[in-house]
Amino acid sequence: MASAENAEKRDIETRADCERLVRAFYGKALDDPLIGFIFVDVARLNLDEHVPRITSFWETVLLGARSYGGGAFGPHVHLHAKVRLARAHFDRWLQLWFGTVDELFAGERANLAKVHALRVAQAFHARLQGFPSPGDGAATAGGLVVTQHGR
Ligand code: HEM
Ligand code: HEM
Repeated sequence: MASAENAEKRDIETRADCERLVRAFYGKALDDPLIGFIFVDVARLNLDEHVPRITSFWETVLLGARSYGGGAFGPHVHLHAKVRLARAHFDRWLQLWFGTVDELFAGERANLAKVHALRVAQAFHARLQGFPSPGDGAATAGGLVVTQHGR
């Protein structure tokens, strides 16, 4: 049953909607105490370049556009080589993304935006375990075994 709040919101319908979502997300993510530094200090993200690309990603996933060329994983390998992208970072990323989607939109595509982000986050986190990161030495020091827990 749709809540009164949801009834006022519409679904994601256009590229402009995707861009609005992406910009609102970065409005939170860049200031976030846990993951903000990764965008600001580590990646030194240029939003003017990044927003169109990530908007195309979501336009491709949600609206069936072919505006995103692929290769989303690569930049995260590069980041992970500088600062470990841990489960807690992905969890926060998802928390901010889900919150932003829910604030602005409601509907099937809004749901898909959350579901697909969850899938990609899980896949990225799992795949990153095969790539080097500064945290590697600490994680294995003293014979500790690092295990992966699925959701
Ligand atoms: C309309 C349907 C879908 C579209 C247009 C779509 C689009 C995309 C795009 C553009 C990427 C990024 C790929 C890259 O950068 O190389 C991606 C990644 C991914 N998608 Fe989807 N997707 C769809 C449905 C699904 C479904 C149904 C699943 C799972 C059941 C799924 C799971 C994933 C996963 C796990 C990744 C990350 C792969 C990786 O590790 O790089 N997607 N998708
Ligand atoms: C810990 C979580 C994450 C962090 C810190 C993070 C950070 C970043 C940063 C800094 C970039 C820009 C890299 C560059 O251009 O130098 C980037 C690119 C990107 N991210 Fe993430 N990301 C995270 C999770 C995700 C998830 C879950 C998704 C998908 C749902 C995603 C999708 C993308 C896409 C599509 C790009 C653009 C890649 C391209 O240039 O084609 N990211 N990310």
